Amino acid sequence: MSSSLVERHERVYAPVITWDSDLEIVAAEGAWVTDVEGERYLDFACGISVVNAGHNHPAVVAAAKDQLDKLWHAGGAFRYGSLVTAAEKVLEVTPDTIEKILFMNSGAEAVEAGTKMARKVSGRQAIVAFRGAFHGRTMGSVTFTTSKAKYRQGYHPLLPSVFITPFPHPFHWGMTEDEATDHALRELDLMLMHEITPGEIAAFLVEPVQGEGGYYPAPQRFMNRLGELCREHGILMIYDEIQTGFGRTGTWFASDHYDVKPDILLMGKAIANGLPLSAIGARAEIFDAWEPGSHGTTFGGNPVACAAAAANMGALAEFIPNTSKLSELAFARFEEMKKNHPTIGDVRGLGLMIGVELVKPGTIEPDPEAFAFLSKHTRENRLLILACGPYGNVIRFIPPLCVTEEDLNTGIDALEAAITAYEAISN
Ligand SMILES: Cc1ncc(COP(=O)(O)O)c(C=O)c1O
Repeated sequence: MSSSLVERHERVYAPVITWDSDLEIVAAEGAWVTDVEGERYLDFACGISVVNAGHNHPAVVAAAKDQLDKLWHAGGAFRYGSLVTAAEKVLEVTPDTIEKILFMNSGAEAVEAGTKMARKVSGRQAIVAFRGAFHGRTMGSVTFTTSKAKYRQGYHPLLPSVFITPFPHPFHWGMTEDEATDHALRELDLMLMHEITPGEIAAFLVEPVQGEGGYYPAPQRFMNRLGELCREHGILMIYDEIQTGFGRTGTWFASDHYDVKPDILLMGKAIANGLPLSAIGARAEIFDAWEPGSHGTTFGGNPVACAAAAANMGALAEFIPNTSKLSELAFARFEEMKKNHPTIGDVRGLGLMIGVELVKPGTIEPDPEAFAFLSKHTRENRLLILACGPYGNVIRFIPPLCVTEEDLNTGIDALEAAITAYEAISN
């Protein structure tokens, strides 16, 4: 970014929002972005898993432009086609339990709406969320967010009747997946014994792969137990698929990998490939029991964002079948790298949502300095990456789904070169 832009930016813009770099990007296409100097970067930050179909996908751009020329705001005064078409198209790809849609603007807003609906419709107040989760920054959604205490610090009191119980983090706990699942389930049982009875719980709110919390997939056995409790006690299962949705994990939704299906599905991020839109899907009987007028929005379901979303479903359908192959390639390379690089402690994830955890060699101690080094080194080699995890030491590997095998390998080569350079100076 030119220094004058940095200065202007800092003069007028709230510093509460942090930026990973001073790069000034002026154009983007597919997996690549171009800066003001004309340098091209491979963008594996992917807008935090938003531009899954690649930047400026031509069909999505054309649909948005077409809608822009016709109608770009409605605000509830009248009906319009792009919202209905987008809802129909999204329902074609959601799990079978999802029968109706409601559009909002952001992920946090979808979390708010989904949990409000669960409370209102069930007549119960308690929401159970899982330690390490990220659900957003608004007062409601940040109450469910425990990926970092910093996100909550200074904002208390948060919402009452929200209960947080451990999510299995095998690597971080120094356990096998089975041991971590047993531990988390035991803690859940204890919570139900000591703090809240299951009959008072409106919903479980769960990310099938914890995102911000460090790319931990939920073990099958853990989800199965939650599903059993839902069936036994009439608890609603809310899947937060804001980050895992729209092909990121190799299927349309991460819940497609699990036997337990969502009663309520929260979607955002990649839904419109970069235009602000989010959605809640649910069984029809849940939506139909939500009293008309008891929730609302001015901008939710914006006509242009909906037109982009409808076209985006077609764009993603072309890329998702190839995701498993790309995922296998990436996992194989990271597993191989792990053998040669003691800085890599763990490789985990689903599809193209892969966490590569950086540690002090031979330990499970997080090494956030390693990520800081890698991020700078890869940027110098024209690759953009993000971190996740409470310590900021996990490479959040989320290339766009449109990435070619060649570009995927180029990106992983740049990561490996950075790890080699880090190990050379730190050992
Ligand atoms: C799983 C999950 N839920 C909710 C959110 C909040 O979405 P937004 O930033 O659009 O409010 C995010 C954002 O990273 C997320 O990853």
